[in-house]
Amino acid sequence: MDRRRRRPAEELAGLFRGSVFLAGFLLASLAGAGAVAALGDAPIRGMLWVARTADPARALGSVPSECLKVPADPVLAAKVEVGRAAFRTAVLLGGQAGRAGINCETCHRNGRTNPDFLFPGVSGAPGTADVTNSLFSTHRGNGIDDPKPIPDLAAPKSKLKISQDPAEKKLEPFIHGLITEEFDGPEPTPAVLEGLAAYVRALDPTACPARARQPLGVGLLMADARRAMRAAHVEAASGNAATAVVMVASARSRLGLIDERYAAPVLARDRAALREADQRLAEAQSALREHRADATQLLKAWLARSGPLEVELKAGEKASLFSPALLSQAVRRRLPG
Ligand code: HEC
Repeated sequence: MDRRRRRPAEELAGLFRGSVFLAGFLLASLAGAGAVAALGDAPIRGMLWVARTADPARALGSVPSECLKVPADPVLAAKVEVGRAAFRTAVLLGGQAGRAGINCETCHRNGRTNPDFLFPGVSGAPGTADVTNSLFSTHRGNGIDDPKPIPDLAAPKSKLKISQDPAEKKLEPFIHGLITEEFDGPEPTPAVLEGLAAYVRALDPTACPARARQPLGVGLLMADARRAMRAAHVEAASGNAATAVVMVASARSRLGLIDERYAAPVLARDRAALREADQRLAEAQSALREHRADATQLLKAWLARSGPLEVELKAGEKASLFSPALLSQAVRRRLPG
């Protein structure tokens, strides 16, 4: 137990245990304590860990471009895809972080950094996090507030602290420690761990696209979901059901990020379509867990229907919180004054 943990952190921890409605209520009660300045309902969960001073269009409406150099070797490329999906899966992390929906990509947006990240009790200045904070970890809480800047994982390798030289085998134990100790997550499968290391190694400053940032929208999230599902299919076909389950969880996390922005009444049909698509993913996970013969077929069928789903969702995107205008309205509504 971390005795120097700040009170708001404890209260926020409680918040994440509750429902969305309870969250609104607790945030309102925090107003009295003056603990958190950003109050009211948070229609997008990400609002809870974005600095109040951040430009919402940047922090919630866009992400830095990914700098990924996919290896030519197909075996290694498949590992990178497993890692890429795992990097975007909340269930990989346990404890408060996992329950809050935080995943590697929350801090390392698209494998990069996140100058707007601010999580009370975990961050110091925006863009920092104390990954040894016991709010996230029952193992490593060191009783000291020492938030560090979130590093850009696509920085030149020489600028990073942990050696990524495969021969040195430093990266795998580091990531293992992050998941199981700092974030209290369950033991990852060997393929997930290897994949995460392969993904981090494949992040490369020479692979950065010309555009520094890209809009966060249905297209990007559906592309992520499809990549995760293709990785799920490859893993399932090679008999790695447990890893495939994580890949499907990644796709479900991406659908969740779309769903929360489609709350407007006019988008009821899109929401229903999203939930039905999520249900089919849940069924695929059950089939994988039960080692059923139809599991790979379910994954393929989902992929085949993801195109039409995306077209339908895109038709409603302007009425969703992916619209920059509606997003900034929602952020303003949430802020006092
Ligand atoms: C709450 C925010 C947060 C989350 C979530 C997070 N990280 Fe980090 N990560 C950090 C911070 C902050 C550091 C720098 C720590 C330091 O300097 O001591 C870091 C450091 C790293 C490094 C070392 C970079 C170097 O300099 O060599 C790697 C690799 C990394 N993270 C990968 C991951 C992976 C993989 C996950 C998911 C399992 C993850 N991170 C989740 C904030 C986060």
